[in-house]
Amino acid sequence: MSTKRINPNFSKSQAAEITKRLFDLTPSEMDPLPSYWDQNFYLATVDGGKYVLKIFNFKDSENPTLIGVQVQCMSFLYQNGLPVPTAVPTTSGQLMSLEEADFGCGYQKYLVILLTFLPGTTISKVPSTPQLLYEVGRTAARMDKTLQNFQHPHYDELQRDQFIWSLSNIPLLEGYLHVLDGDPLKEVVEALINQYKTSVIPKRSSFRSSLIHGDFNDLNLLVQPKENGAHRLSGIVDFTDMHIGYYIYELAITIMYMMMEHPNPIEVGGPVLAGWESVLPLNEAEKDCLYTLVISRFCQSFVLARYSVLLHPENAEYLMITSKKGISLLHQLWARGKEEMEKVWFEGAAQYSDEKLDPLLKKGI
Ligand SMILES: Nc1ncnc2c1ncn2[C@@H]1O[C@H](COP(=O)(O)OP(=O)(O)OP(=O)(O)O)[C@@H](O)[C@H]1O
Ligand SMILES: [Mg+2]
Repeated sequence: MSTKRINPNFSKSQAAEITKRLFDLTPSEMDPLPSYWDQNFYLATVDGGKYVLKIFNFKDSENPTLIGVQVQCMSFLYQNGLPVPTAVPTTSGQLMSLEEADFGCGYQKYLVILLTFLPGTTISKVPSTPQLLYEVGRTAARMDKTLQNFQHPHYDELQRDQFIWSLSNIPLLEGYLHVLDGDPLKEVVEALINQYKTSVIPKRSSFRSSLIHGDFNDLNLLVQPKENGAHRLSGIVDFTDMHIGYYIYELAITIMYMMMEHPNPIEVGGPVLAGWESVLPLNEAEKDCLYTLVISRFCQSFVLARYSVLLHPENAEYLMITSKKGISLLHQLWARGKEEMEKVWFEGAAQYSDEKLDPLLKKGI
């Protein structure tokens, strides 16, 4: 196992120096934002600007081409009306810069980008009403539909065939199963992988391919209050997991993460699905695999968190946050089974329509 530290550990004053040197901006405030693999700073400048300085871990920094495509993609989404940050060019007109630093393991190179700051708070902090969940589903679909038109000379970089967080790679979890030895959930994960092989893989050729965000979780979505005390979705951040997958993956990932914090998680799928289908109705194969794919994401999150704990036991608490909550949901979903969950989600979705929700939704966000 490599002992190299992959996450950067720049001090506030180093981050301020980088900001001044690369972007000619003078910080008045510089606060670390929550992150694990990368380093993110909230940055306010003396002339009233607000930004996020993102410093990638050294592993991801080895592929500036991929990060470059992701940055262009964010800009494309922004131009098409999606609430996403964009990268601010350096004084020499570059969208990213490589910074060298030694955090005790020798000199490494770290990619730095400066993003516009989006106002709001993470969706994890507000009640997820059916209306907000509908908006999350609808925005995810609107984003992916827009991405159909994204072109880039290095588009193929987004293929990421071996990306372990792609829902195409559920069978690769077999290589990690030893981390569950002695855990009763191992059997469920094994059964899920089999279900994936027999019921999802044969249908994948009928799924519609799409470039997807791939990590629509409750810390990557920002909301702002509306006049009536409710919240609207105001931002999407963190495009580092973008890859070419299928529409249905994005929906399954979104449902899974929205379930995580919800007081009544079983009901979450209905409004998210209704919002999604108001833009991109599912085909039969996609409908048929939704249940298995939602559970697949729970398993992926659980297994990979356990694996990271083995590598970094000092971060066990942080790493297991998502999967701890996920374990009981995984049990619940598995016990209820495909037929019952499809009924809850698809009948739930039928209860929601634009008319039944806030008419402001129709005007777009
Ligand atoms: N442009 C932005 N505007 C406003 N807030 C942001 C922006 N970018 C990031 N944030 C905030 O910072 C948090 C962390 O950023 P981000 O999601 O990009 O990091 P991360 O990739 O999840 O971190 P890591 O990979 O290190 O775990 C987000 O959850 C969000 O609250
Ligand atoms: Mg994030």
